[in-house]
Amino acid sequence: MSFLPKPHGGKLIQAFDPNYDLSNAAKELEIDAIALSDLELIGVGVFSPLNGFLGKEDYESVVSNMRLADNTIWSIPVTLPVSYEIAESLVVGEEIKLKHNDEVYGVIKVSELYEPDLNKEAREVYKTEELAHPGVKRLFERGPVYVAGEVVLVKKPEKGVFGDVWFEPNQTRAFFEEKGWKTVVGFQTRNPIHRAHEYIQKAALETVDGLFVNPLVGETKSDDVPADVRLKSYRVLLENYYPKERVQLGVHPAAMRYAGPREAIFHALARKNYGCTHFIVGRDHAGVGNYYGTYDAQYIFSNFTEEELGIKPLFFEHSFFCTKCDGMASDKTCPHGKEDRVILSGTKVREMLRSGVLPPATFSRKEVVEVLIEGMREKATV
Ligand code: ADX
Repeated sequence: MSFLPKPHGGKLIQAFDPNYDLSNAAKELEIDAIALSDLELIGVGVFSPLNGFLGKEDYESVVSNMRLADNTIWSIPVTLPVSYEIAESLVVGEEIKLKHNDEVYGVIKVSELYEPDLNKEAREVYKTEELAHPGVKRLFERGPVYVAGEVVLVKKPEKGVFGDVWFEPNQTRAFFEEKGWKTVVGFQTRNPIHRAHEYIQKAALETVDGLFVNPLVGETKSDDVPADVRLKSYRVLLENYYPKERVQLGVHPAAMRYAGPREAIFHALARKNYGCTHFIVGRDHAGVGNYYGTYDAQYIFSNFTEEELGIKPLFFEHSFFCTKCDGMASDKTCPHGKEDRVILSGTKVREMLRSGVLPPATFSRKEVVEVLIEGMREKATV
């Protein structure tokens, strides 16, 4: 008997078929890195129950109600945008090869072509129409017509340095079962893992059987630390500070949307598909700038019952090292003032790393900082 949650919508979508007959798909469509990542995530079941790019009814329902048309919870539209010229060349009913950098990765059976209300999508999903928001900027850059339809993944993208930590939901589920973990907490991050991240992960791990450290390595904004550099830092951190028997590292190849609260739900559902029973949501999850309130990504969960979500969110307060407590703490556990707390913004830390200045050991483990500085230095000389 499995203790792991059922995949979202009931069954894990498996739409990978390397032998799929491409002879019916005469036309080709070049897709961007985000669409390629979405295609793969649909194909291997991370986005279950989606089996393709959203049609108009599902899209409008997701934008307005955070649900697919059949009422299943879904908070971020997964769409395939194209230009007007390309849309005119496509015909409903035909199969089209999906290419990226001259390689065919999949096929879409076009069921619909429709024009989304991008302003509404921006307002509802990102809570702003400002182009200064990286998710909104990308939304308006990607194309005014959405191509909908079921997809087949015919080739999986190369994994490069991520090869040994790239798992599909059926693999993570098998692994969690094998370990005998009845409860597994998933952790999302697009950053290096600093002491505050480590603290909330370990606080969560005190109450569950296993921890799935699942950093996002798809497209992020250009000033985030690159995923390959981050990966080295995760490896060194886990090697030195985490119990091997209770922790698994695996990457999440999705693109970052920076949609804050809506993305927290989206992140939780993907982790449920990987087999996690719990999911960590700390302060300003998936946020950017000042677009979202510190705990909005926690409040949004109250729109849904835990039963319907199928994964339990674990909420954490803003954590930090307190010099008076002489340890990690949060507002919930520390009585001291701001002046005793080591709090550095992500921007400040990235600046320090780029200029080779070591953030304090109370903020980030020494081994992590060394790997990051080295990695950033190498990038700067490329
Ligand atoms: S995210 O965009 O991937 O959410 P980040 O890597 O900063 O960004 O955060 C990963 C997870 O850790 C999120 O759940 C976030 O809310 C949480 N988190 C980050 N920093 C802190 C902190 N200082 N205190 C509590 N939670 C935090």
